[in-house]
Amino acid sequence: MTKAHFGLIGLGVMGENLVLNAERNGFSSVVYNRTFSKTEAFLLQRGAGKNIDGAKTLQEFVDKLDRPRRILMMVKAGSATDAVIQQISTYLEEGDLLIDGGNSLFSDTERRVAELESKSFGYIGMGVSGGAKGALEGPSMMPGGTKASYDAIESLLNKMAAQVEDGPCVTYIGPGGSGHFVKTVHNGIEYGIEQILAEAYDLMKRVSGMNGDQMADVFSYWNQTEELSSYLVEITEACLRTKDSIDGNDLVEKIMDKAGQKGTGLWTVISALELGASVPTIYASLNARVMSSLKAQRQVAESILKGPILSKFDLGDPSKGMPQLMDAVVLSSIASYAQGIEILRLASDEYNYDLDMPSIAQIWKGGCIIRSRLLKRIQNAFNANPKPINLLLDPWFADQINSRLPGLTHVVAGAVEAGIPVPCFTSTLDYINSYRTSRLPQNLVQAMRDCFGSHTYERIDNQGKFHTDWIK
Ligand code: 6PG
Repeated sequence: MTKAHFGLIGLGVMGENLVLNAERNGFSSVVYNRTFSKTEAFLLQRGAGKNIDGAKTLQEFVDKLDRPRRILMMVKAGSATDAVIQQISTYLEEGDLLIDGGNSLFSDTERRVAELESKSFGYIGMGVSGGAKGALEGPSMMPGGTKASYDAIESLLNKMAAQVEDGPCVTYIGPGGSGHFVKTVHNGIEYGIEQILAEAYDLMKRVSGMNGDQMADVFSYWNQTEELSSYLVEITEACLRTKDSIDGNDLVEKIMDKAGQKGTGLWTVISALELGASVPTIYASLNARVMSSLKAQRQVAESILKGPILSKFDLGDPSKGMPQLMDAVVLSSIASYAQGIEILRLASDEYNYDLDMPSIAQIWKGGCIIRSRLLKRIQNAFNANPKPINLLLDPWFADQINSRLPGLTHVVAGAVEAGIPVPCFTSTLDYINSYRTSRLPQNLVQAMRDCFGSHTYERIDNQGKFHTDWIK
């Protein structure tokens, strides 16, 4: 009996779509799920008539696979992934390859790569982005592990990935947990841009008094511009146009204002802090989700803590205000990418990942949630200078900042006066203003530290460490 080329464990939404993608691209497959009824249902429905077989037990699953086996695990990150690895390992033979396509913590992946490789199995930790549709039609994939393991699945991944003008949206990221690290940072950028678009929506609704369709028209226009054309802007338009089937009003207004999170945004911020990367826009988006979850407290606080009387600033007149709002969205989105890239730059050195930034920009151009036309500019910036100090200093991005900073400033000032929170816009403005200031007030912080703790300080006019008895 001919054996299958590719095995999948975990028939969740992503798993189902990825195996259908592999099969469509000519790779015969076998699927295994903890509950067999799910496997049966899949084979009778979406898997029917396809070159996809099912297995009831792990023994049967491995027996049906060609050697060396290529097995993709699409299971919950954390202990569930460890449990599957432990169960399947007993059936594996030398050279077989496990791929974790979930959103695993990169340090877990580091550990698993080391453990599995020491048993002569291959192990790839692979970030997969694009949601259900991307998984089926072509995701962006970020595989990390040993190069030999990657080579064994390169042709499979190249066919399954989204395709852009300069190739498939997959590349070898680097050793160990680098693939999951890059996917984590992708998600941090994703958190940032989602919050930025939500802030724009809030101002359009509360200051400009626009309804769902009017706001959707703005997002539709933005999606045609080089600076903002992106998947997230495109789906924001769709979300704002959708009506509630119950009463025909804007559905988005019926949704509870509490944003969930599964961990990758938090891991991005933790890594940034550990590496010493300044990521205020991304951090603000994470904190906005935390604050949103305090719904009950916010309801109490609203009647106790008074804000200013809503002033309408320029956004009250959309023809004047929308270009400024676009400035705020463009600069904050640029800041999200720049901050994510800064984390990758530092991680590349600290963890010896040797990340190739032009390739990462290239594989994010299609298939993934943060795909956008801006990524072409980011790719160009890295091609011109593979090790830029900061993306903001690339000439094209510097021009964007210099021309759009007044607009962002106006939007933040107006929102502050109106008492409307815009954490990502505000943090971006502070980020840019801090970054373009050669002398910040941390000289005084240094003085205080030396005053109470003799921590010493450096001088601007003399080399060395200095200490002063500040209180005589
Ligand atoms: C993607 C997404 C996806 C991620 C969700 C969940 O690239 O396809 O990043 O992998 O799991 O967006 O993120 P939160 O639930 O934490 O928002």
